[in-house]
Amino acid sequence: MNPTRQILVTSALPYANGSIHLGHMLEYIQTDMWVRFQKMRGHQCIYVCADDAHGSAIMLRAEQEGITPEQLIANVHAEHSSDFADFLVDFDNYYSTHSEENRELSELIYNRLKKAGHIATRSVTQYFDPEKGMFLADRFIKGTCPKCKAEDQYGDNCEKCGATYHPTELKNPRSAISGATPVLKDSEHFFFRLPEFSDMLKRWTRSGALQTSVANKLAEWLDAGLQEWDISRDAPYFGFEIPGAPGKFFYVWLDAPIGYMASFKNLCERRTDLDFDSFWAKGTDTELYHFIGKDIINFHALFWPAMLQGAGFRKPTAVNVHGYLTVNGAKMSKSRGTFIKARTYLEHLQPEYLRYYYATKLGRGVEDLDLNLEDFIHKVNSDLVGKLVNIASRCAGFVHKGNAGVLAEANAAPELWDSFLAAEASIAEAYENRDFARAMREIMHLADDANAWIADKAPWAMNKIDGKQDEVQAICSLGINLFKQLVIYLKPVLPVLAENARQFLNVDSLDWDQLQTRLVNHQLNPFQPLMTRIDAKQVEAMTEAAKEDLQEVENQQPAGEPTELDKDPIGDEINFDAFAAVDLRIALIEKAEFVEGADKLLCLTLDLGGIKRNVFSGIKSAYPDPAKLEGRLTAYVANLAPRKMKFGVSEGMVLAAGPGGKDIFLLSPDSGAVPGQRIS
Ligand code: MSP
Ligand code: ZN
Repeated sequence: MNPTRQILVTSALPYANGSIHLGHMLEYIQTDMWVRFQKMRGHQCIYVCADDAHGSAIMLRAEQEGITPEQLIANVHAEHSSDFADFLVDFDNYYSTHSEENRELSELIYNRLKKAGHIATRSVTQYFDPEKGMFLADRFIKGTCPKCKAEDQYGDNCEKCGATYHPTELKNPRSAISGATPVLKDSEHFFFRLPEFSDMLKRWTRSGALQTSVANKLAEWLDAGLQEWDISRDAPYFGFEIPGAPGKFFYVWLDAPIGYMASFKNLCERRTDLDFDSFWAKGTDTELYHFIGKDIINFHALFWPAMLQGAGFRKPTAVNVHGYLTVNGAKMSKSRGTFIKARTYLEHLQPEYLRYYYATKLGRGVEDLDLNLEDFIHKVNSDLVGKLVNIASRCAGFVHKGNAGVLAEANAAPELWDSFLAAEASIAEAYENRDFARAMREIMHLADDANAWIADKAPWAMNKIDGKQDEVQAICSLGINLFKQLVIYLKPVLPVLAENARQFLNVDSLDWDQLQTRLVNHQLNPFQPLMTRIDAKQVEAMTEAAKEDLQEVENQQPAGEPTELDKDPIGDEINFDAFAAVDLRIALIEKAEFVEGADKLLCLTLDLGGIKRNVFSGIKSAYPDPAKLEGRLTAYVANLAPRKMKFGVSEGMVLAAGPGGKDIFLLSPDSGAVPGQRIS
């Protein structure tokens, strides 16, 4: 093993305006497994992260919820922290980019870049929303595509014909925030002179810091020539004001990666054994790794190393890029119940199931990775319960009954034991290289060997033969020792199982160096079941709940406003024809009842002037006394395709608005409206 290394590791900072979902979890689980591997090998490995709390999306979201951005980010910080903790993601620090440390470091880096001549200023003409009083980012402008004339396209590209353009080229532009017609307005912007770093970046991207396919992609951009990067935004903006430039703020992506440093700095204030400079000063031999998804490569592999270099800091040792998660072979889908929030998963399944499944799929590449729910059930049950836990549960009983739980001294199969030890270098190398899939294959191969050997020896049959008891003890004692080796190998992936196994094995640690020890004449503790099988019903309940979450979100969001599940703050767009196709009717709520077994739903019986409809709606939190809804009118989407839910079929949807929780307001039209009347 190498001498002790000093390693700082980060995962990308999740935006503070939405919930963590299983796509995000791929990244945090991957990073956590790598960090745990380094720690159990005796290295100093520090894992920091934070919420990415700035930007206009967060400002607008807070406004929409009627709270301050500070309140929003505090709420989300608590939610994210508990999601990560419950998935056993063990950060040394989980901070926020909206912190004093980050403000100071962002100012420091900016001032150094400015002093070194890396900042340019010039005037930029941009669309401005006169009603809202703010400049509009491209994604907040909509209009007609200048090329193909498709309506309702975003400010920088057309989803119909694929054209890219400048927002000023859009026909009939309007603000996606207020609907107002934007006007052109000039303003002074600050630019980071990225092209000055081209030569450095050409070298750095080929230095081994990146996967080859990532370096190849970047080479295309580097060869085409880099552009200066606009790092400023005008007020109103939620972020840090630029020193010496009142009313100008750092663009969120300027201070976001600096948030890695700030989170570490904050940790240094608490941990006297850590020194900020030894991890960030130029020329240090400590290691720095960023784990990110493929959508944010340019920020981490171009802008960030250039900023660090320009401000006199060290550059990352490597940026490790992973692909995107798909579920059942397709992009995560809200209506199929495959857009699964971390919390929804946790309400139905153990975190280690998913950690193991991701480990079996994660290689070194940037390809997308599929969570196939059937394969997930099968793999976890067959590998972890059927192979791994089975070894211990088969052997423990004989040792407890036959020898008072004391492991025998004899080694019943020295070659098998040696083969488990011999695999160490290769498994360690696979972990080190983030080839978790290979590590899992090799470990399960060993588990197969152990099971085959035990099955061949059949201690349960041998135990019935007089004079064979010593041999039974020797076989089962080796079985337990082989189990110990497998648990050590799997500890980065399954920390809770490893901790429970440690208690059963009655040892102080299951760190990597413990592979060298064979436990002999050693007292075990009673065996406790270490993992239970996944029942397909749990997975089904999870996808049903994910659909229920979706309904809740749909009901809570005012029309056209972002849902918390969207990365992009504006929802999937529809054209006018699609909107006009919505058959909006007045409905009389005839009956409103609780739904047994559903936390969030009410069942509404609607009357549309003689036609009866049955609707499930996620509004229970706001209407704890459903009887009060009876006899009231509401707006109802009559031609929505019926959806089968766990509790029955929901026909259409009632419309509501409000931030959620207690504040969801069913839209009730003026009295005098007639049930069944069309209102769209
Ligand atoms: N806030 C930025 C990162 C700033 S880092 C200085 C951001 N946030 S994010 O919440 O959108 O994404 C956080 C991480 O999760 C990113 O690395 C992103 O690639 C990853 N993923 C988000 N959705 C994902 C999948 N569906 N699949 C795999 N990873 C995904 O980007
Ligand atoms: Zn077009």
